[in-house]
Amino acid sequence: MAAAGSAVGLGNIWGFPTQTASNGGAAFVLVYLVLAFCLAYPALMAELIIGRHGQANAVASLQKLANNQFQKRFAFIVGFGGIVCAGLILSFYAIVAGWMFSATLEPISVIAGTEQATTWLSEQSLSRDLLFTAIFIVLTVSIISKGVENGIEKWSKRLMPALLFILFALIAYVLTQDGAMTGLKAYLVPDFSSILNPSLLVSALGQAFFSLSLGTSVMIIYGSYISKQENLVSLGAYVTLIDVFIAFVAGMLIIPAMYVAQAQGVEIFSASGELLSEDTLVFQVLPALFESMGSIGIYIGFAFFALMSIAALTSSISMLEAPVSYVVEKFALARIQATWLIGFIVSVVSVSIIFNFSALFGFVVQLTTQFAQPLLGMLCCIFAGWIWHRGKLLKEIKEGNESVENTLFWKVWPWYIKFVCPLAIGLVFINSL
Ligand code: PHE
Repeated sequence: MAAAGSAVGLGNIWGFPTQTASNGGAAFVLVYLVLAFCLAYPALMAELIIGRHGQANAVASLQKLANNQFQKRFAFIVGFGGIVCAGLILSFYAIVAGWMFSATLEPISVIAGTEQATTWLSEQSLSRDLLFTAIFIVLTVSIISKGVENGIEKWSKRLMPALLFILFALIAYVLTQDGAMTGLKAYLVPDFSSILNPSLLVSALGQAFFSLSLGTSVMIIYGSYISKQENLVSLGAYVTLIDVFIAFVAGMLIIPAMYVAQAQGVEIFSASGELLSEDTLVFQVLPALFESMGSIGIYIGFAFFALMSIAALTSSISMLEAPVSYVVEKFALARIQATWLIGFIVSVVSVSIIFNFSALFGFVVQLTTQFAQPLLGMLCCIFAGWIWHRGKLLKEIKEGNESVENTLFWKVWPWYIKFVCPLAIGLVFINSL
């Protein structure tokens, strides 16, 4: 459940619908689904298995597979690269999560009738972003300084059903509104001619890896916390299914809601059909939707954004756990010191992004999600497929899952991550160049 909590987050409800809207709708959805199951799931399994075998932080787990000095150095680059990537992701993630916080408080300020506060909460500004980003980072740090086991599973377990319930209720409402059917069509009926568009492919690949928290060493460290009695193959499949399902359902809400908002006069597209507010799309569309519901919309808006904030937290703690577990084991630092130290470094990067938003935000998002994550995820597949002794790899898969030998996974996965995953990910990159 903690791994699912890491996977389900802003990537599903902010990232996926925004990417879908800026990459032409249903064609993106289709490519995303294919890549999530055919490339991201196998890569997730590689990371979980490496972690469970290593029983240590990401660098040490990867180094355990190395057979010589050269491979050891390579393991360091992949593991440490993932850790840095997780920290960078956290630095922009905290900003978006801060937007979720302010959207949660906005309905409260409306009920309280404090107009000034409502205006401040609803408009992007330096003061607002700095404050809520800081609160989010401090919250993440305080949870992680106590260790991952405490409470994360409990939160994740309650979160998913609540999130799905509210998403379905909102979809039912949206679909009765004017303009929704055009949106639904844009979401579900693909234009096949754009499916092989290089930039669509890279975006979908990046989104799939981002959504499953891959290439950040997060799933390696979470893998190391999974007991040898667990069936990893089905555990990974559940995480993927839950994650993809929630993203798909979120898109079913937000894409039609975009068209409904457009019909109600909110400006979503420019005259040439481009999205006007790429990063903040969700924050334009959803508040408009809640407002259109009348007085009950305030409560629903509050509940929705509060749930999103929790979902963001169960993801951000996994991002912070990646560097913290490394520093604690490597430098024998107390957990609490390591956590505050890394939290501080992340905050410095966040603040730099906030002050140079238009130059840095998109750049960091792209660098980490579209470039670093698929690349590092691919290197984990190469580790499992080419460097790890095959017999030992198979033995690890068998732990907790004696009957795995009769499954398709057993027959296909080892050569699949050896050849297909690296090749396919490499091709998407080369194609985009
Ligand atoms: N998967 C998370 C989401 O979809 C984001 C994430 C990325 C978490 C990388 C951990 C590491 O919101």
